Amino acid sequence: MATWLTQLLSMVSAGAMLVSTSLDTLAPQHNQKGLLFLINRQWRVSETFEPSLRMADVPGQLRRMREDASYALEEMFAACKMETGIRLETVSGYRSYQKQENIYNNKLRSVGTEEKADEYVARPGASEHQMGLAMDVSQDSDMVNLTSAFGRTRGGLWIRENCWRFGFILRYDEGWEDVTGYEYEPWHVRYVGKEYAARLHESPMPLETFLILHRTETMLDLLVREK
Ligand code: DAL
Ligand code: ZN
Repeated sequence: MATWLTQLLSMVSAGAMLVSTSLDTLAPQHNQKGLLFLINRQWRVSETFEPSLRMADVPGQLRRMREDASYALEEMFAACKMETGIRLETVSGYRSYQKQENIYNNKLRSVGTEEKADEYVARPGASEHQMGLAMDVSQDSDMVNLTSAFGRTRGGLWIRENCWRFGFILRYDEGWEDVTGYEYEPWHVRYVGKEYAARLHESPMPLETFLILHRTETMLDLLVREK
């Protein structure tokens, strides 16, 4: 068979194979039930979206998260207490669309401009907190609660070094502002599960960047397997 025809047939069969591959494999960033769901300024969820939630049995307030994330949070807080003696506390987990709207509007009133408010607070529908996958963490009634100084506390440093062991990542790290769209938030951890958290610990990068690499890797893998 002519080479061009072989190539064409192989492209057609690769295309068919890609079409029949599930959306979850090719675009995990759009699977609301998945671990890699991407929510940011560009990708938002509807006003009515609400995950199934569980209250994590840990110290602090607003402790509801998606069930898998809530168990992982318990494991992480217990390990931190055992390894360092530090008692971590929750500050804010699941937030409904309306709650996020209130937080955003309050921030806007206090800072005066949308540009400033957007540095730290997501617009309603654009927050990982609405997915039940994020938790804002603090250390034992700490005065540096939700400030960049938390990153220099023992609890903040422990979180940075160890959250991956429990399936969490620091979602808004220093230097990633241009990609994530937010300022450094050492207190905000996002659940992605142990496998992805370990990979992101080994090669730290924003979730947005990881998803591009992951997609390319998946496509190449599918094409190679098809050959
Ligand atoms: N502080 C993060 C960006 C949020 O509001 O979801
Ligand atoms: Zn947060």
